[in-house]
Amino acid sequence: MIDLRSDTVTRPTDAMRQAMARAEVGDDVYGEDPTVLALEERVADLLGHEAALFCPTGSMANVLAVRAVVKPGEEVLCEASAHIVRAELGAHGAYSGITSRTWIHPRGQVDLPTVRSILAPDMGPFFVRTAAISVENTHNFAGGTVLPLADLRDLRELATGAGVAVHMDGARLWNAHVATGTPLSEYGAIADVMAVCLSKGLGAPVGSLVVGSADVIAEARVWRKRMGGGMRQVGILAAAGLHALEHHVERLAEDHEHARLLAEACGVDPAGVDTNIVAVPRGDAAEVVARAREAGVLVSAVGPAVVRLVTHLGVARADVERAAGVLAGL
Ligand SMILES: Cc1ncc(COP(=O)(O)O)c(C=O)c1O
Repeated sequence: MIDLRSDTVTRPTDAMRQAMARAEVGDDVYGEDPTVLALEERVADLLGHEAALFCPTGSMANVLAVRAVVKPGEEVLCEASAHIVRAELGAHGAYSGITSRTWIHPRGQVDLPTVRSILAPDMGPFFVRTAAISVENTHNFAGGTVLPLADLRDLRELATGAGVAVHMDGARLWNAHVATGTPLSEYGAIADVMAVCLSKGLGAPVGSLVVGSADVIAEARVWRKRMGGGMRQVGILAAAGLHALEHHVERLAEDHEHARLLAEACGVDPAGVDTNIVAVPRGDAAEVVARAREAGVLVSAVGPAVVRLVTHLGVARADVERAAGVLAGL
């Protein structure tokens, strides 16, 4: 089976497993795991923020990050197919008591005029207060699209002027960085608080981080424990993340090239494929998924009319070429 369902299906490489086996560990709830501390420092540094917090999942990192800037009864604005509102099972409402309003963009981009028109940071006692705007870069359900830095800077300016925070879901920020050459710290400068994942294209088995100021991270640490996310000798997993940052970032360019090849096979314009995800419009998405499976290729339906293909380090060029042949036939 060639698995193009998600870049989360990767298995740790032998070299990654060796790095994990060698990891120095301690009790991270006591702040004594040197490998976790090293990972947190490295990621905060890369993104130009003061501190970071290792979390089991991207969903938990997003919940901790958003709740750091949006209080119960306040709202976050985001694109309608953002992961935080579409795919975290209502976590932000269920745990943090916040609401959201959304704008729609087919490529998951910032629609600044609409954001400006719905932004309500201070509209008296009747209206929900907008406390933050969230962006997702790259945007998963829009097809791995990159948000241009210029748009993000305009958004930052709008947010600062309105006194609201910016959250960035950077589960695949590494892909945006490799696709555009934009330094990670420039993306970091856009956001007050971020979530980034090691367990997507970077190929670590587990792990995401919340990134922000020292104060935000100190509070997120308390909430992580409250949510049952305090982990112990977890340097074994942090070592996988450090290994991934060292060895698996630049190679994402290969995944991007593979995604364009698949796009072409599926009749999707490769020029619109920014990174490692291809969204293929098909009215019969579920049937395509079933038929591809029969032919040895796993893909997913992310809506009734969208088939998603995701490339990653577990699929080599030969697999991609074979999958392209199968998908072209469908
Ligand atoms: C954009 C984005 N954010 C957050 C997440 C959540 O990550 P996790 O599955 O580790 O909870 C995902 C998962 O695929 C994602 O695509």
